Amino acid sequence: MLTQKEIVLGVAGSIAAYKAAEILRGLCRLGARVTVVMTRNATKFVSPLTFQTLSGQKTVCGLFDPVEEFKPEHIALAQKADLLLVAPATANVIGKFAAGIADDSLTSLFLSVRSPIMLAPAMNPAMYANPFVQRNLRILADEGVVIIEPEVGEVACGESGKGRLAPIEDIINQVVEILSGKSPLRQRKVVVTAGPTREYLDPVRYLSNGSSGKMGFALAKAAFRRGAKVTLISGPTSLPRPSVGIEYIPVVTASEMMQALDEHFSSSSVVIMAAAVCDFKPVCRASQKIKKSSSSLTSIELETTPDILKHLGRMKKDQILVGFAAETENVEANALAKLQEKNLDLICSNDLTQKGAGFEGDTNIVTIIDAHRKLLHLPLMSKEKVAEKILDKIEQLLIERFG
Ligand code: CTP
Repeated sequence: MLTQKEIVLGVAGSIAAYKAAEILRGLCRLGARVTVVMTRNATKFVSPLTFQTLSGQKTVCGLFDPVEEFKPEHIALAQKADLLLVAPATANVIGKFAAGIADDSLTSLFLSVRSPIMLAPAMNPAMYANPFVQRNLRILADEGVVIIEPEVGEVACGESGKGRLAPIEDIINQVVEILSGKSPLRQRKVVVTAGPTREYLDPVRYLSNGSSGKMGFALAKAAFRRGAKVTLISGPTSLPRPSVGIEYIPVVTASEMMQALDEHFSSSSVVIMAAAVCDFKPVCRASQKIKKSSSSLTSIELETTPDILKHLGRMKKDQILVGFAAETENVEANALAKLQEKNLDLICSNDLTQKGAGFEGDTNIVTIIDAHRKLLHLPLMSKEKVAEKILDKIEQLLIERFG
């Protein structure tokens, strides 16, 4: 199942390091080529020779080992890896990863790798529950790192609680899922738009809306976790840019967003327009700030921006095209009209008047409508969960269309 896959197994200094030997064996049995990178503390629990013997590859450990030395093809480990799995991941390496510290081979590799990254934390339950550790894990998860949660049980120090390394079988299953998973999104190009656009009146003033970008970012990360090649085109947001493996294209105006989509549309399998594109823009954009003293500006003449989704609907070949409908009245009827008018495969409608739905919060209430007018009402849920539901629906469509 993992033949031809290059996995880097990072091992940090936890008593659970001995379990990494079993993980390594399991991955090798499935055909993966695994290189182990150990922190210095990890070598106090298990000998590098153990991993070297089991993997048949030289174990990388210590400070700044020259990683290239271990590449028969002389390609850096970071470029070559299909997956970086860190198991066990300690509070210490999790903190360094989240802070961008690179003071040894594993942390340096973490910053340079372009493949998906999975972490399986293992530590004392009080440490795991500590708000700093939890914050660091959230930072990493927000950036697309897959966290394989520890299980509840007795840990080596005798305490009980959540902190035991996840079962080895679960870790291996998740690796298989991410590397050879059955998701029809695997290896397909998915383009997601997010955030608002801004339409400038002068260099400092603009028309826009309150979109936070959270829904689009959640969709991009979820698609990436399912193995898609993701391009995220986003208007200005305050969200940290997803750094791990997702192509990120920042834009400002509706025209720039359309230009970016024009470049990426023909090579994509799925396009999800979660952006709240500003519908109007000032007809004239002043090159200098309009001074109130020297201007008699009392009204602004506006024109419409291009309807990007409608434009994509006209160009569509076999892409799955997904839109959002932000409504305040006649939600379903308006959403259905947009589905048809823009030639969409799915539309995700949200009623902006409902508490917990819409632009700025962490939750949404969405109804997914397909081209056969079939409705799927989702209850209030986090934008991450909504993203998973939308992708489940897209996967169904891909299977119907391409088998
Ligand atoms: N959209 C777009 N280009 C625009 C406006 C909207 O591509 N200029 C996309 C949005 O990204 C969304 C869908 O069209 O996926 C519907 O956007 P929405 O704001 O709900 O509707 P509009 O088409 O703008 O119509 P109205 O504002 O009249 O409801």
